Amino acid sequence: MKPTAYPLLVLLLLLCGLAGNAPAQARQYTVSTLTGNLLLTPAHGERGSAWGKANCQGCHVLRLIHANAPLIRPVVQQRGYQTCGGCHGDNGTGQTRRCLVCHNNQDLPLHPLQTGTHRHDFATGKDRPLGDGDCLLCHVKSDMDGRFELTVDLTPFRDADGKPSPYVSQRDFCLRCHNQTHQPRGVRIQLRPQYGLNDPLVTIEDNYRYIDRHGDPAGGGGTYSGLRGSSGYRYGQSVECTDCHVMHGTRNSNLLLDDSRKGVSQLNPLLRSKPYRAIESTPGNYAQVCVLCHRMDDLSVEDAALDTGNGLSGVHDARSDCGECHVHGQGFGGGL
Ligand code: HEC
Ligand code: HEC
Ligand code: HEC
Ligand code: HEC
Ligand code: HEC
Ligand code: HEC
Ligand code: HEC
Ligand code: HEC
Repeated sequence: MKPTAYPLLVLLLLLCGLAGNAPAQARQYTVSTLTGNLLLTPAHGERGSAWGKANCQGCHVLRLIHANAPLIRPVVQQRGYQTCGGCHGDNGTGQTRRCLVCHNNQDLPLHPLQTGTHRHDFATGKDRPLGDGDCLLCHVKSDMDGRFELTVDLTPFRDADGKPSPYVSQRDFCLRCHNQTHQPRGVRIQLRPQYGLNDPLVTIEDNYRYIDRHGDPAGGGGTYSGLRGSSGYRYGQSVECTDCHVMHGTRNSNLLLDDSRKGVSQLNPLLRSKPYRAIESTPGNYAQVCVLCHRMDDLSVEDAALDTGNGLSGVHDARSDCGECHVHGQGFGGGL
């Protein structure tokens, strides 16, 4: 603790005493795992006196806080005061909120899995590591309670009507940026000439609603039988974008998953956590990705019995460039 901090604390306690308030311990916290709200407001401290202050160590003792938050307590103790802003906001100081100080391959290697050089870095032409600002863009107010909740852990972007309607599924989140008509202010999606009028970066909203079999047209009726059986892939709803696409790191192009733990959320947990690799073996060959969920009924067809290289079989033409036929927005001759 910095020596200059003591007088402040003493003064604060004195003020509480003079005002006849209850002692600090008895205060009702607004920040909690129950409310799912960790961000400090201008009401921070007695009558807002702590808002705008950067030296958390001046008033809060590391060893005494977070008694009710066992999941995060050890890593906060270890990484110290540089972490506070990541969860509690900048306290009105404008200081950087840090994430990677904990979410790195040493401290939290599985949450999230960040291996691979391609990431959702908000620019298709580049490959740069994600910084704290990238994390914040998508998770501005996560409660870090170990459960991923759509409405808490994903930044609320406005819908097509400009309203802050809550997300019903994860793909709502993606589609609030990836569309032609209502991208949030500040988001710049550059169209790529080689795609003509069908760049999935923006046409995916319509494709997913009206054309793609993994989207709404599938309807989740449960009649399609080309999947890894009832004990393998539990489906019934349309497939999420993040069942196939990875935000935090992959070696495959198009941000497709390279490890079963990074997607395929409805796969039998035993298969998913094994884990299975899903490497793009030659450009456009996603056999190992598709075969995580797909297993054709008739194994005598084409390559259906051929091991795709990760121990699983069940897709046709397993050595081809799938991207020649299986792309977003094509209703015939393959498609997605
Ligand atoms: C001037 C002293 C002071 C400073 C500096 C200070 N706080 Fe506080 N903070 C308080 C007081 C007083 C409370 C009231 C509750 C209590 O007794 O802990 C409080 C409460 C909190 C709470 C619980 C808020 C609630 O309403 O539930 C959090 C979280 C918190 N502080 C985080 C921080 C962080 C992060 C920093 C550094 C950016 C910081 N504080 C800096 C005095 C301070
Ligand atoms: C990984 C997220 C995370 C980080 C980082 C973090 N906190 Fe917290 N903090 C929480 C959670 C969750 C709670 C709510 C605990 C509860 O429900 O009682 C909390 C509550 C608090 C409280 C009020 C209740 C209590 O437990 O005392 C204070 C004060 C506080 N934090 C201060 C800090 C300070 C100071 C730092 C930096 C050293 C910090 N926090 C870093 C997640 C975090
Ligand atoms: C483009 C948006 C986006 C960016 C950028 C992003 N995330 Fe995520 N994150 C998501 C989505 C969507 C999910 C839920 C699906 C999933 O787990 O992949 C998620 C899930 C998570 C999870 C919970 C799942 C797990 O594996 O434990 C953590 C933790 C997480 N993100 C941390 C981060 C951190 C840290 C960064 C910055 C390095 C970051 N995210 C950057 C969108 C994003
Ligand atoms: C003190 C270390 C620490 C810091 C700093 C931190 N986190 Fe976390 N975060 C955790 C821990 C621990 C978990 C819980 C992981 C688990 O066991 O599932 C978590 C969970 C998450 C989750 C998963 C959803 C949930 O509710 O559990 C997301 C998303 C996330 N953090 C994003 C961020 C972002 C964005 C930042 C920066 C603004 C950040 N974190 C800063 C430690 C930290
Ligand atoms: C805040 C807006 C925003 C959100 C939310 C968002 N994206 Fe993006 N996404 C972008 C931008 C911007 C680009 C880069 C476009 C460019 O290069 O001009 C991009 C690029 C991509 C790319 C191509 C990346 C590459 O490097 O090849 C994919 C795939 C993608 N996003 C999928 C998703 C998925 C899936 C989700 C939801 C989990 C999602 N995005 C959420 C803004 C967003
Ligand atoms: C996360 C699991 C999952 C992954 C990964 C996946 N699919 Fe699918 N796929 C499904 C589900 C579920 C359906 C059925 C949707 C429905 O009709 O309910 C489906 C349906 C299809 C269909 C339509 C089949 C028919 O006869 O109706 C095609 C074609 C297809 N997928 C191709 C692919 C290709 C190509 C890949 C790899 C790039 C792939 N899928 C990856 C889950 C997945
Ligand atoms: C020459 C075009 C072409 C190529 C190349 C191709 N496919 Fe297909 N694929 C199709 C067509 C056409 C269908 C039938 C789609 C339908 O049911 O509407 C199909 C169906 C599928 C299905 C659903 C099968 C079922 O009936 O259950 C999967 C999974 C699939 N392809 C995966 C792949 C994978 C993986 C690759 C690359 C290794 C690939 N395809 C390469 C044209 C192609
Ligand atoms: C079944 C797996 C699957 C699902 C589900 C899926 N995608 Fe894709 N996505 C692919 C494949 C395979 C490609 C490469 C072929 C292509 O460009 O269409 C791709 C390409 C893309 C691209 C172009 C990437 C680039 O770098 O050029 C974007 C953007 C994209 N998808 C966004 C989304 C969004 C947003 C969703 C959810 C609404 C989604 N995808 C759902 C498999 C999937």
